[in-house]
Amino acid sequence: MNLDFSQIAPSLPYILKGLQVTLQIVAVSAIFGFTLGTLLALCKIARIKALGWFADAYTSVFRGTPLVLQLMIIYYGLPQLTGYDITAFLAAVLAFGLNSGAYMSEVIRAGIQAVDKGQTEAAMALGIPYRKMMLNIILPQALKNILPALMNEFITLTKESAVVTVIGAADLMRRAYIVGGETYSYFEPLLFVGAIYYLLIMLLTLLGKAIERRMKKGD
Ligand code: ARG
Repeated sequence: MNLDFSQIAPSLPYILKGLQVTLQIVAVSAIFGFTLGTLLALCKIARIKALGWFADAYTSVFRGTPLVLQLMIIYYGLPQLTGYDITAFLAAVLAFGLNSGAYMSEVIRAGIQAVDKGQTEAAMALGIPYRKMMLNIILPQALKNILPALMNEFITLTKESAVVTVIGAADLMRRAYIVGGETYSYFEPLLFVGAIYYLLIMLLTLLGKAIERRMKKGD
């Protein structure tokens, strides 16, 4: 065994630059996925049946096919249709956001449906418009209940972001792979980014717990 971490020392700043790329992809996809997931969840519980069918079909396609396939279709396939190239960053954010939205819609739908019916009835009896009722009464309560499930989704998203390596985005994972190729030793750089991913997930977990504690204070 000849592990030698000192040989990747000069490459550490290069690898760490990938952290910014990874974080940007995850942050934008998470916001996009959450917004899309909320809209889809609202479609699923809407009275208009066609909206529900659309949202269900959407979820079924995006959960039913591999994320890496969706990413490749967007990055390599779309330019063939539109005639325009797409950056790896945009393709990543689109694929992760669209995919995560499908998963989140189910979590959010379950959260909304778990809120006591009396809340909707009371809001309606008070004449509160649907939009206001959802935004100010139902969704905040739903979010509180689904926070752990949403944290799970953000954790998955953070780790799955490593898949952008296949379309060449210079994220943490790809940079470790490149350094491995240059130094002829893959173990050290891969282990190094493994530790960074782990740290990121630990930070996310702590953040989730802190938010949960804060939300409980209101009880
Ligand atoms: N590897 C899985 C796939 O290819 C990951 C899906 C993403 N999961 C998620 N909860 N966002 O489908």
